[in-house]
Amino acid sequence: MQVIIFDNAQHVAENAAEWVAELINKKSKPVIGLATGSTPISLYQELVNKHKAGQLSFSNTTSFNLDEYLGIDEKNEQSYRHFMNHNLFDHVDIDKSNTFLPTCNQGENPRKQGLAYEDKISQAGGVDLQILGIGANGHIGFNEPTSSLASRTRIKTLTQQTLEDNSRLFSENEFQPTLAVTMGIATILDARYVLLMATGKNKAKSVNNMITGPLSAACPASALQLHENTIVLLDQEAASELADKEYYIWANKQNQKIHQEFGLYHNY
Ligand code: PGA
Repeated sequence: MQVIIFDNAQHVAENAAEWVAELINKKSKPVIGLATGSTPISLYQELVNKHKAGQLSFSNTTSFNLDEYLGIDEKNEQSYRHFMNHNLFDHVDIDKSNTFLPTCNQGENPRKQGLAYEDKISQAGGVDLQILGIGANGHIGFNEPTSSLASRTRIKTLTQQTLEDNSRLFSENEFQPTLAVTMGIATILDARYVLLMATGKNKAKSVNNMITGPLSAACPASALQLHENTIVLLDQEAASELADKEYYIWANKQNQKIHQEFGLYHNY
């Protein structure tokens, strides 16, 4: 894992936007994996700014989101489709017919929908760059602790901790879904690059578990230790429990020197 520590959350978002822009500007048909939650909102804002400044076009981009709630309609403001439209898709030139979420409408079999989603990702050529957040319990997507490290897109029951963490986004009498369809851990590991963003003190413990292990279903994000190209972008607070912080800062300086001499090279 390449661990990069920034002064603050805004710098995390700006750097993440550079990674996305590099992919989109480099590849003729980029495929990006997208995430919802509070963390990537500032990344999406950066991408919208770049688009409005004429620096970035999404016209050839295909996107696959990590997850979607089960039991609420796409039009519902709590749906992740609504989140993506509101935070990104409505403000850039992406063709919405090329934006996919693992949606499962009423009456559809979530198990079949999961397999169909996997097929769709394969048909698009696989995900080049997967954006991820991390839960305070170490989940990635909605792969909750004890999820199989070999899991594929499927229905998942949310844990009490996740429901409590997300309850801030629901008003008192609003229906809060307890089920979701999520890419599996193996689905995420298939992405060519993974870009995980984590900010804030409440992520420090799960970030440390993810990076220093053990590799365990108890911390689903630890599966990223098996991924060849994972970049972890942290603010100071999210990095605060890492014992080897100084090493990551030092290693990153060396990487920057290599980039300056030889240029960036990402094998998308
Ligand atoms: P957050 O969620 O960005 O809202 O903290 C991240 C996650 O649960 O994966």
